[in-house]
Amino acid sequence: MDQTVYFILLLIALCSISECVQHQYYVVNEQKTWYEAQRYCRENYTDLATIDNMNDKNDMNELIKSANVGVVEFVWIGLQRSVHNKWQWSSGEPALYLKWATGQPGGSNECAMMRNGRWETQSCGKSLTFICSSSKANTSLVFVNQTTNWRSAQSHCRQYHIDLVRVRNQNENQEVEKIMNDSNISEVWIGLFRDPWQWSDQSNSSFRYWNTGEPNNAGGIQDRTGVSQQYGSVGRWHDISGKGQFPFVCHEDKLILIKENLTWSEALRYCRQNHVDLVSVHSEEMQRRVTNVVKRASTAAVWLGLHNYCLMNMWLWLSGEIVCYQNWAPGNGTTPENCRLEKKKGAVQSGGDQRWISLPESHKLNFICRNYE
Ligand SMILES: *[C@@H]1O[C@H](CO)[C@@H](O)[C@H](O)[C@H]1NC(C)=O
Ligand SMILES: *[C@@H]1O[C@H](CO)[C@@H](O)[C@H](O)[C@H]1NC(C)=O
Ligand SMILES: *[C@@H]1O[C@H](CO)[C@@H](O)[C@H](O)[C@H]1NC(C)=O
Ligand SMILES: *[C@@H]1O[C@H](CO)[C@@H](O)[C@H](O)[C@H]1NC(C)=O
Ligand SMILES: *[C@@H]1O[C@H](CO)[C@@H](O)[C@H](O)[C@H]1NC(C)=O
Ligand SMILES: *[C@@H]1O[C@H](CO)[C@@H](O)[C@H](O)[C@H]1NC(C)=O
Ligand SMILES: *[C@@H]1O[C@H](CO)[C@@H](O)[C@H](O)[C@H]1NC(C)=O
Repeated sequence: MDQTVYFILLLIALCSISECVQHQYYVVNEQKTWYEAQRYCRENYTDLATIDNMNDKNDMNELIKSANVGVVEFVWIGLQRSVHNKWQWSSGEPALYLKWATGQPGGSNECAMMRNGRWETQSCGKSLTFICSSSKANTSLVFVNQTTNWRSAQSHCRQYHIDLVRVRNQNENQEVEKIMNDSNISEVWIGLFRDPWQWSDQSNSSFRYWNTGEPNNAGGIQDRTGVSQQYGSVGRWHDISGKGQFPFVCHEDKLILIKENLTWSEALRYCRQNHVDLVSVHSEEMQRRVTNVVKRASTAAVWLGLHNYCLMNMWLWLSGEIVCYQNWAPGNGTTPENCRLEKKKGAVQSGGDQRWISLPESHKLNFICRNYE
């Protein structure tokens, strides 16, 4: 085969490997109350399980299935009812800019829609058309001409675009209003919701997988979340009292920020000795996780497992893959590196838009190790 064609085919094959590991879950087959389970997970792993998305949910349910937990009604995860019930965006961002209509928000509704450029609370079960955001950097929006409830609208946006639209300022509000005007539609779901549920590890994942009619806080004592193992609703979530005794799922953080200032080679050695390796960032999902941990760094950039293979002027991840998902800062990663000078390695900025930059390997930076194979 022609060598170039072969190389391109190889690239395509390599680039289609997706990031499989998201959260590392562990099913603990011992019956404990939610509170005991939380303590156990915090001592032995990171915390009770947090679920970020449909993939996590599927992985976890498969794991529970293969763990043979026996005949139990529920398996605990880390979602708990809190006293706070603040409005927030589906994306996990806090709602700072608010554009409520006069008299809003009122009542006990937990979702928000837009009408006449202003926001109103609405029962989450109502069927409305909705608007998704379709790219992160660019605030491009997509009007979906189907009516559905808020949760299904959220799933649709996450499956086909990015998320339900979030509105952070007057401009973004006008963009949504303009799409509504152009589509001649008077009410749409936006990504604003509130619920009193909170993850044990304080993560702001807005993913929920409630069974129909749940959470219902039956008897006013249902303040924790169990994944149903009962016929007809296996894998769906129920609010139940935290005092019940059930098996549970813990998770372990996969990425660890090490706040020591080391050269790239020293950092590599440290990660391989104490964890698994320096982190490789193959996907937007992994970049999002990296973004979450680098915010706490004490250096302006943080080493990644990214190195320049001078002979071919190619950037490679330590895991062996070439760089498919790209997040370089302008001017970095593309121009040929001068190989006669010091070797270049890849780091991620800890502030700004957390892009990747190329730095001499003797720079002393914080770094991120991964904890999974
Ligand atoms: C999660 O919430 C915190 C505090 O409200 C906020 O600073 C952070 O940006 C949120 N995370 C994401 C991914 O938006
Ligand atoms: C936004 O998206 C449009 C169309 O996809 C593209 O032409 C434009 O360059 C993007 N703008 C930014 C700032 O990314
Ligand atoms: C949408 O239409 C309303 C009513 O015609 C108008 O007042 C408003 O300015 C329009 N908004 C945008 C952003 O085009
Ligand atoms: C939305 O769908 C309805 C009915 O299917 C159709 O009449 C209407 O023109 C559509 N609107 C847009 C903006 O596509
Ligand atoms: C917009 O919708 C209204 C009522 O829903 C209808 O009377 C009007 O003809 C529509 N306008 C266009 C341009 O489709
Ligand atoms: C690492 O470097 C940063 C920035 O120069 C500094 O603020 C921090 O204290 C250093 N950390 C250690 C552990 O030396
Ligand atoms: C790499 O990106 C950084 C941060 O944006 C910038 O300061 C630097 O000039 C870039 N490097 C090159 C070679 O353009």
